[in-house]
Amino acid sequence: MNTYRIAVVPGDGIGQEIIPEGIRVLDNVAEIENFKCEYTTFPYSAKHYEKTGEFMPANALELLKPYDAIYFGAIGHPDVDDTLPATRYTFRVRKGFHQYVNYRPVKILPGVPSPLRHAKAGEVDFVIVRENTEGEFSETGNFVNPESPEGFAIQTSIFTRKGIERVARYSFQLARKRKNLVTNVTKSNTLIHSMSYWDQIIAGIAKEYPDVTYEKMYVDNASATFVLHPQHFDVLLTTNMIGDILSDLGGALMGSLGLGPSGNINPEKEYPSMFEPIHGSAPDIAFKGIANPVSAIWSGGLMLAHLGEEAAAQTIENAIFSALQDKDNWPADIGGNASTTKVTDAIISNLQS
Ligand code: NAI
Ligand code: MG
Repeated sequence: MNTYRIAVVPGDGIGQEIIPEGIRVLDNVAEIENFKCEYTTFPYSAKHYEKTGEFMPANALELLKPYDAIYFGAIGHPDVDDTLPATRYTFRVRKGFHQYVNYRPVKILPGVPSPLRHAKAGEVDFVIVRENTEGEFSETGNFVNPESPEGFAIQTSIFTRKGIERVARYSFQLARKRKNLVTNVTKSNTLIHSMSYWDQIIAGIAKEYPDVTYEKMYVDNASATFVLHPQHFDVLLTTNMIGDILSDLGGALMGSLGLGPSGNINPEKEYPSMFEPIHGSAPDIAFKGIANPVSAIWSGGLMLAHLGEEAAAQTIENAIFSALQDKDNWPADIGGNASTTKVTDAIISNLQS
């Protein structure tokens, strides 16, 4: 029997509520599909920072490295400087573990109405592949005389050949397993250096995959296309910041951020990958028992797929879809009144069918 060692980082806010629900689902599906998950919980969070002065210890990556995967909630708290969670935790893990693919499926769920009246389940089904280690989120920059009238700030984007090539190749390979279309979402008409280089390198990689259709679309047009013709997309390849923004739009198309899963993936499996909801710690609804656990549960499914448990991943996805066919199982963010626990119970009871 395969046993997977999972590092669990619930984080802050609703992360504390939905990650334990995700674990309940993982344990149930493991029993059905005959494997085992062993969990070690790490307290890394903004709350931990308030108590100890650090989000995570200096050797945290060493501690996390032996695990098969990291199951993460969200990080950030209204009492803590909100520039810290990304730089002290999320970027450290994503960059340190070369999780250069941020994989974010966007799928209209059967039975859950999308705010787009013409978007149908089965038709809107695409993946955002967001470059996850460089680009606009490179942390390079400075403030110069910030308090003075002449004060200014600069922040530099970094686009490397290596960084672009690897995420591009991943996208074309993914498209081959799907509907064979890669859309590069770019802004090279105005970011004439960084994003022209991005386009140029992706066009070169596209030539290695002549069987995959390749197109380029500017992000302004892509935003409109999300709303007007979301059926168009298959694999959407984009940069760190554009992908961050468009994936919340993708979550909204599905009906709520609370439905959207993601994986921070190191495709070579040299380091653990990290799986997390697309949303944040939602302090406005935390600890009321009403958070939608689907994003976390589905992220657990992506984690199992990455670990090679494809059947279990599919079982989770099917159970989510079946459970949400019944409005009694809808959480508040999609218009129902089922509690976090009730939604999870419904998904668990659909795992067997
Ligand atoms: P958010 O994604 O936490 O919340 C946005 C809105 O969506 C809120 O109204 C929230 O209640 C709702 N929402 C999100 N997830 C939900 C769920 N599962 N069920 C029901 N409703 C849900 O974004 P916000 O408010 O901008 O950020 C809050 C904190 O989270 C900040 O500290 C931010 O820095 C952090 N954050 C952390 C991320 C991460 O850890 N990867 C990602 C995004 C934000
Ligand atoms: Mg985001």
